[in-house]
Amino acid sequence: MQILEGNFNSESPPPISATHSLSKKIFQIQWTDHFPLRLHQSEIDVVVGDYATVSKFVKESYHRIYGPSSEKFFDNPLMGAQKNRYYEEAGDFFLFLHEKKVVGFFVGTLIDWSSYYFRNCSILPEYQGEKIYQKFLAIVIDIIQKTKKVDRLEGDVSPVNYPHIHILNKFQFTITGFNSSERWGTLLHFTKFLNPEIQRQFSEIFCHGISPKPIQDG
Ligand SMILES: CC(C)(COP(=O)(O)OP(=O)(O)OC[C@H]1O[C@@H](n2cnc3c(N)ncnc32)[C@H](O)[C@@H]1OP(=O)(O)O)[C@@H](O)C(=O)NCCC(=O)NCCS
Repeated sequence: MQILEGNFNSESPPPISATHSLSKKIFQIQWTDHFPLRLHQSEIDVVVGDYATVSKFVKESYHRIYGPSSEKFFDNPLMGAQKNRYYEEAGDFFLFLHEKKVVGFFVGTLIDWSSYYFRNCSILPEYQGEKIYQKFLAIVIDIIQKTKKVDRLEGDVSPVNYPHIHILNKFQFTITGFNSSERWGTLLHFTKFLNPEIQRQFSEIFCHGISPKPIQDG
């Protein structure tokens, strides 16, 4: 089994980027106030990570998570340095650890002054389906919502990524768009409105539908 080896544990100091992130600067979210933590009823620890660790995990494990076509994510070396700088400045990285080994990660980035993007979550196949993502999402949404500084969470998902769509539906994300790109193909755009007034305007004024229900745990 290929799992990134590392010396991660709850006592490891957080990476410098975690305390100087754009989320800290714009939303005053200090992720290290909330992590590390162990996901409820699991052996998975979540720690604030950094781009270098996630990059290594991606290079070593993406083919197992996304299949041979994952090569396309690395096919533009000219973008390498720029991409690194972008992620180092803008990325919030969270590592999922099992017995101190990285088994998955989540990365989020700011879109603007009131919107946050759920950019990617990737978990090794043997750890999928254990509700790591749902447990993590519940925590991260709660943290962001409590700041009252972010009005919407957004993300893009392949229309055939049934588990991811299922999870976003459970968390009452709304489909707000559809896009195609040379990088990721066809994607559905999802938004979760964190501000109840904005949710009300969206669902009652611009659209007609059934009001969201309170979210059930896991
Ligand atoms: C998508 C992913 C992040 C979800 O994380 P996870 O920890 O495995 O997800 P969870 O265990 O929390 O939840 C999986 C849910 O999908 C459901 N599911 C699984 N296969 C499904 C399918 N074919 N159709 C619909 N739902 C499905 C499960 O039943 C479960 O829902 P439930 O709790 O209501 O029963 C993870 O599976 C993964 O890394 N997949 C590969 C990479 C990827 O697609 N990443 C997302 C792109 S950004």
